[in-house]
Amino acid sequence: CWSQRGGPVTHVFRGTFIHSTPETALQVLEDALLGVDTAGKISFIGKGENLLELSQKFGFNPSDVNQLAQHEFFMPGMIDTHIHASQYSYAGTALDMPLLQWLNTYTFPVESHFKDLEFAKKVYTQVVKRTLRNGTTTACYFATIHTDASLLLGQIANDFGQRALVGKVCMDRNNSVKHYRETVQESVDETHRFIKELLNKKYPLVKPVVTPRFAPSCTEALLEQLGTIAKNNNLHIQSHISENIDELKLVKELFPDSETYTDIYHKFNLLTDKTIMAHGCHLSDKELTVFRETGTSLSHCPNSNVSLCSGILDARNVLNHKVKLGLGTDVAGGYSSSILDAVRRTLDASKVLTIQNPQHQTLTFEEVFRLATLGGSQALSLDDQIGNFEIGKDFDALRVNVAARGGPIDLVQCKEPKVVDHLTSYSLFPPICPLKGDDRNIVEVFVAGRKVVPCEDLALE
Ligand code: GUN
Ligand code: FE
Repeated sequence: CWSQRGGPVTHVFRGTFIHSTPETALQVLEDALLGVDTAGKISFIGKGENLLELSQKFGFNPSDVNQLAQHEFFMPGMIDTHIHASQYSYAGTALDMPLLQWLNTYTFPVESHFKDLEFAKKVYTQVVKRTLRNGTTTACYFATIHTDASLLLGQIANDFGQRALVGKVCMDRNNSVKHYRETVQESVDETHRFIKELLNKKYPLVKPVVTPRFAPSCTEALLEQLGTIAKNNNLHIQSHISENIDELKLVKELFPDSETYTDIYHKFNLLTDKTIMAHGCHLSDKELTVFRETGTSLSHCPNSNVSLCSGILDARNVLNHKVKLGLGTDVAGGYSSSILDAVRRTLDASKVLTIQNPQHQTLTFEEVFRLATLGGSQALSLDDQIGNFEIGKDFDALRVNVAARGGPIDLVQCKEPKVVDHLTSYSLFPPICPLKGDDRNIVEVFVAGRKVVPCEDLALE
């Protein structure tokens, strides 16, 4: 039986709940009852058979219980630990160059347009709506260097009810676009203004992140000041690391005194238990050890790693080093804004490593499901609040209908016993069929107990 705690309950759901715990990659709770309180937190999880007892204890009417349909289940909201909101404007195009050329040819010119707040509003509204629709209840965003547009992204995430970490990008060198660059002083002053103004809004689900773009874009003077700002304000930090071989060469030239790429960030106090670094395809075991020791997390961005021909992250090795790991779409290096796509591609990347080396221990679907949910919450140091269905955590959840009308899954019951056993190894029918699903199967999305898809507030549509 699952434990319970008191509190005024506003919603109660009954049906199948699927989630991860640190011990079990994929746990299925069948015929469960889950209560959500007025603060949007999970107040109890119990068994369906205890409905009467629970209704008395938590003061709800048994006839108010929201019963899931036969083909439905709840899973935790998915977490995108690395996405460039500003690059959503060209996702799916311009993937014909490796990283450094891609940044100079397409990315910096596109990002420079976010000086225009009208344009920023359109793109940021689309990316927040689309990712919520895809089941991303928490997103860790890069915006651009523009403080006002970055604040607007925070406002839009708040208005649509998405949980978000938002970074105003900092960079003071190596940029093809002259007017898309800051001095150290501008970058520091604007970072201070961004943090102060975003915190002043008191959005309950949106936090600022200190965001040095990556070492090649930042002088030592800027990295040093950003490390100090993050420390003094106890803030999250995000950046990129060890994505591409040419990038590693450039880093060696720019920072001849640092032994490794990791040492550069470490030296400036940018590796903390609230830091998330994207990619890390080419990190050494020694660097991964520094990640573990400092509590730094990695965001695995498999679509981008292949789309920009950057490399293949050995996620198994990262997990073996006990480094916190989440999934990222890395739009627009990655062309899909869906974490379900990142799940599929994480499995593909792991299988490619097994093709290359049969000794490689391929990640399982269950492990990757955990990376998309609980793993992401750990990577963002939010696992005390979100990531799975634990009492006291916020109810961030997806109501999935495997048989959604017009959706991509056809429920054909297979009679072959071996396959049936595999599909129903969680004694579930219908099976989860996760690798065939898409946003059409996500019928409702909740963040902190509020239904954000379909959108309650038509004014936001
Ligand atoms: N490294 C520095 N900036 C970027 C970016 O915008 N996308 C990716 N994929 N890598 C980066
Ligand atoms: Fe990125």
